[in-house]
Amino acid sequence: METVLVTGHAGFIGAAVAQRLLQAGYRVVGVDNFNDYYDPALKRARVASLAEFPGFSENRIDIADAAALRRVFIETRPDRVIHLAAQAGVRHSLKQPEAYVTSNLVGFANLLECCRHNPVKHLIYASSSSVYGNSKVPFAVDDRVDEPVSLYAATKRANELLACSYSHLYGIAATGFRFFTVYGPWGRPDMAYYEFTRRMLAGETIELFNHGNCRRDFTFIDDVAEGLMLALDETPADRKVPHALYNLGNDNPVALTEFVATLERLLGVKAKTRLAPPQPGDVEATWADIEATTKRFGWRPRTSLSQGLERFAAWYRDYHQLRYPASA
Ligand SMILES: NC(=O)c1ccc[n+]([C@@H]2O[C@H](COP(=O)([O-])OP(=O)(O)OC[C@H]3O[C@@H](n4cnc5c(N)ncnc54)[C@H](O)[C@@H]3O)[C@@H](O)[C@H]2O)c1
Repeated sequence: METVLVTGHAGFIGAAVAQRLLQAGYRVVGVDNFNDYYDPALKRARVASLAEFPGFSENRIDIADAAALRRVFIETRPDRVIHLAAQAGVRHSLKQPEAYVTSNLVGFANLLECCRHNPVKHLIYASSSSVYGNSKVPFAVDDRVDEPVSLYAATKRANELLACSYSHLYGIAATGFRFFTVYGPWGRPDMAYYEFTRRMLAGETIELFNHGNCRRDFTFIDDVAEGLMLALDETPADRKVPHALYNLGNDNPVALTEFVATLERLLGVKAKTRLAPPQPGDVEATWADIEATTKRFGWRPRTSLSQGLERFAAWYRDYHQLRYPASA
């Protein structure tokens, strides 16, 4: 069975896809530095279930450490790579830009160098819907994306350009996926759906930025993991250019107000809300055009927001050991 190197395997999406790979019989080599952008205990808890598989091994290294990453490639000889390690978060990129430069630019370049000198059959990497900025919706992969409105978005767009050039120069088959607000069990505490849940259950006020006028194309974690699995097996050899980009989104944007109402119903709590101005770096709406993704991989999201949030809420109570919903 093949070996897949998954960077960011202790992260939200990385742990979910690593689990799928191990269940499908792949060997998984994880690479993660377990940084404390959010509680590393959550990262350790995600990885605990991966460690039960004999095909799993991990390397606690920083991808910005070129020599360490090179060593992992040489020692484990991966057949394919799924690169998810990055400094995520739009707002945080205004506060700590250096983390984005180190992980998303230096780390990404190191990864490409490793794929150049240790050829792999396919490199899949994470980009983001944020590359679209405030352009027209729905967002299609052929749209112009040269006006990023945050440093985070700029680093993700830079990844796409770097991957394209390495593909061209060294024949690396590479596929970038632009993810759209991925949510679900084992999710990221810095993201709004997680923070809103915490605050609502604690009786705290939630802030609705852009005065509540936002729409997001929420995509459930299992649907995202499914998309990555479908793409992994694809043979990009028949492409004219070995680099390609696809949206992995839900094609069904939901208004923030509807999102909060769904959470209220599922948590059995009335949210205390405060309308707030737009935040620098935020975009008003995201909406994925997924026609090309469906055509290429036969992928379509299957989980409605209500189903997905229900799964998240159940997990949240369990993980945080809340025995009763606040108002039940
Ligand atoms: N979750 C989303 O909604 C979303 C949306 C768009 C794009 N993305 C992208 O998808 C990828 C995965 O996101 P996620 O939500 O799982 O985030 P995450 O923060 O949960 O996972 C990222 C993992 O990478 C690790 N990491 C970060 N910098 C590292 C470094 N320098 N060296 C080694 N490990 C490092 C972190 O410790 C973490 O475990 C990221 O590239 C992110 O930018 C996510």
